Amino acid sequence: MIKREKISAILKSTEFNRETTVMGWVKTFRNNQFVALNDGSSMSNLQIVVDFANTPENILKKITTGAAIKVKGILVESLGKGQKCEVKASNIEILGESDAEKFPLQPKKHSLEFLREIAHLRFRTNTFNAIFKVRNALSFAIHQFFNDKGFVYLHTPIITASDAEGAGEMFRVTTLPFENTPKTEDGNIDFKEDFFGRSANLTVSGQLEGELGAMALGEIYTFGPTFRAENSNTTRHLAEFWMIEPEVAFADLEDNMNLAEELLKYTIKYAIDHCADELEFLSSRLAEEEKNKPQNQRSEFTLMEKLNFCLENSFERLTYTEAIEILKRSKPNQKKQFKYLIDDWGADLQSEHERYLVEKHFKKPVILTDYPANIKSFYMRMNEPDEQGRKTVRAMDILFPGIGEMVGGSQREERLDKLQTRMEEMHIPKEELYWYLDTRRFGTAPHAGFGLGFERLVLFVTGMTNIRDVIPFPRFPKNAEF
Ligand code: 4AD
Ligand code: MG
Repeated sequence: MIKREKISAILKSTEFNRETTVMGWVKTFRNNQFVALNDGSSMSNLQIVVDFANTPENILKKITTGAAIKVKGILVESLGKGQKCEVKASNIEILGESDAEKFPLQPKKHSLEFLREIAHLRFRTNTFNAIFKVRNALSFAIHQFFNDKGFVYLHTPIITASDAEGAGEMFRVTTLPFENTPKTEDGNIDFKEDFFGRSANLTVSGQLEGELGAMALGEIYTFGPTFRAENSNTTRHLAEFWMIEPEVAFADLEDNMNLAEELLKYTIKYAIDHCADELEFLSSRLAEEEKNKPQNQRSEFTLMEKLNFCLENSFERLTYTEAIEILKRSKPNQKKQFKYLIDDWGADLQSEHERYLVEKHFKKPVILTDYPANIKSFYMRMNEPDEQGRKTVRAMDILFPGIGEMVGGSQREERLDKLQTRMEEMHIPKEELYWYLDTRRFGTAPHAGFGLGFERLVLFVTGMTNIRDVIPFPRFPKNAEF
């Protein structure tokens, strides 16, 4: 068994003048004397004091940034500034060399763009150490939240034949070798039989299967990878992202909004309570970045202020129709500063409109409800037409400052006839979704649910601005190497 003490434990230790063994990666080696060592367990490095005179030359020259080393020594109180303790090394072993000329991570600040190019090594930086620990804490918090409430974690399939959103953004699954792929008469690939004789794709959402679970178990949630084959190269979209999808029987849209708001606040609070060091690091990183921006583009608030503000205030709730009225009257609309001007009811909101509502008008998270039926999915519950005959659905989107859409959900259409009519209108194949319709045939009941984009939550909590920086292995167009 390899025996070592974790650096996080050593830094908290109050027991000095004792032997210890640590292992980690060298961050810096100053003056042939001080190694800053990190093993991933702490945001802070441990200082190792090298006994220069008694350490062989061939070891000294291999203590380079990125090398993995094992240090035996005595833990002592530090006289130097900046650290409480340090290890006076009596023996240093090189576990893995790192050629200083070739190792891309130098002991300096690298840009996030550069780190994205060496995404396989960016784990070694403090920034990504902090981000992935916050990500871990948030995912734990999500399970904790739902389990405390008695929700059942339901594993929905990754490979499925259904298109839950009806938007056609699916990755096809094929078992066929390229040369055997059947072709249609006009020479195109025939996808009908590619999954052992039938068609299949990667899931875009676990919702429809989740509804089956909720209509028996009462309250379920899914938390898994979902896939969208859209060619989006934005800072908010991934081809593979993780989604949390609760589904609740005997619940309406208001229950749904309450659950989502409570979940978001719980997880943010959990991160604040459990990731103090990481958030402090990310907060000062962000403050540093803000300083480099022109005055008028700087954020008025620190990361911690933004998170706390979100906890202390209730989210603004209004309908799409009310939002359109605000947007119509808004300065950027009147002065024609929006790229897409709002002059009519019915159009989908663009991110510039969402940003205006959240960042300029309400200055807090906003829940928009009751969207026009024709811009939303087939499974959302139809409202009675309004006095002007306009059709809306019991949809909700939660919009966050700096993020845009964090959550999308709805009360579901539980009335069989209404659901079937809508599927016909929207060309959703009813026969293939017979199993979904069966929930409405046998013991239908009001129910509601939503999808929370996990990476968008991690973006908000870490204060990062590019979604590719909050998932360990980002998948986006043309990027699937490792
Ligand atoms: O709004 P969406 O498409 O809703 C659904 O999939 C529903 N079936 C959810 C439900 O009701 N159970 O996606 C839900 C959320 C969005 O609000 C957004 O946060 C995130 O998933 N999302 C993405 N995140 C990263 N990359 C993408 N390409 C995303 N598409 C959606
Ligand atoms: Mg949506």
